[in-house]
Amino acid sequence: MEKILVIGSSGQIGSELVPVLRKIYGNENVYATDIKDPPKDVRKNGPFQILDVIDYKNLLHFIVGNKITQIYNLAAVLSGNAEQIPLQAWDINMKALMNTLEAAHQSKAKKLFWPSSIAVFGPTTPRYNTPQLTVMEPNTVYGISKLAGERWGEYYHKRYGIDFRSIRYPGLISYKTEPGGGTTDYAVEIFFDAVKKNYYRCFLKKDTALPMMFMDDAINNTINLMQADQKLLSVRSAYNIAGISFTPANLANEIKKLKPDFSITYKPDFRQAIADSWPASIDDSIAQKDWGMKTNFDIIKMVQLMLEKIEIKLKKGNS
Ligand code: SER
Repeated sequence: MEKILVIGSSGQIGSELVPVLRKIYGNENVYATDIKDPPKDVRKNGPFQILDVIDYKNLLHFIVGNKITQIYNLAAVLSGNAEQIPLQAWDINMKALMNTLEAAHQSKAKKLFWPSSIAVFGPTTPRYNTPQLTVMEPNTVYGISKLAGERWGEYYHKRYGIDFRSIRYPGLISYKTEPGGGTTDYAVEIFFDAVKKNYYRCFLKKDTALPMMFMDDAINNTINLMQADQKLLSVRSAYNIAGISFTPANLANEIKKLKPDFSITYKPDFRQAIADSWPASIDDSIAQKDWGMKTNFDIIKMVQLMLEKIEIKLKKGNS
C-alpha cells in the first residue's frame, strides 16, 4: 500500500494535488505537510502536520515513522522572490531537494516527484518550440537552482536507484490558492483583479509570450507521470510539457469577451527580464511519447472557468 508524503501542501500546487491524491490512495494515506497552515479541506480530510523540509533529521524521522513510500516535494521560493534574496533562495531550494533525495536514499520512500520549471532555460535557448534537449544557461537564481536540481535528481536515480520523476512546469494557473513571487503570477492575478476591479496593471509587457497550463492539466499530468511504468521513462531529469502559450494581451482579450468593461495597462518591472529569458513555447513530444502527456484546457475554456470560480469564491468570502 502506498503512503504518500506531500511537502509544501499549502502552496499553489500542493493545495490542489492533495485532494486528488487522497481520492486515489485514500485520505489517511496522504500526509500533507508544510510550514504554513493548510487550506480547510486539506486539514479536514486527512493527516496534516507542520514539517520543515530544511530540517533533515525531522524529515527522515517523519518518513520512516509513517512508512512513507512516495514523496512529492513542492517547496520552493519562486523566480521573482528568489531574485530579491539570491543566496537564501538558493539555499532553501537546494536544501529542500537535497534533504528529500537523501531521505529517499536512506528510507523506503524511493519514489520522488519534484517540480522543475521552464526557468531551467535561458536567453541562449531556442525560444520557440524549445526542445527537451537544448542549450540551458539560466540566468536567474530560481532557474539555476532548478537546473542543478534536475542534475541531482538524475544523479540519485543513476547512482542510488531513486525513482526520481520531474516535469518542467510552465506557468500554472489556478483559482484555489494563489502563487507567490513568480514571474508567471500575472496570469493568475489578472483574473482576481478582473473580478474585483475590472482592471489589471500587468507587470509584463503586452507581447510577452510564455507557456502556461491550467492547474487541472498540471495535476493530471503529474499523477500520470508518477503512475507511469518505469520502463517507459527515458528522461530522469525533467520532462518538457507545453500547455498553452499566450501573451498578456491575448489573455486580456479573452477576458474582455466575457467582461467587456475589463481594461488592462502595462507597467513592466524587474520580472520582464526574467520572462524575456524564458521560452515562448515548448516542444513536449517526448513526454507525449513516453507517458502520454496531454492537456484538456485551451485558453477559452480556462478563462471561462477561472472567472466563474473566482466570482463564486469572492462572493462567498464577502458574505
Ligand atoms: N511559475 C514559476 C515562476 O514564475 C516558474 O516555474 O517563478
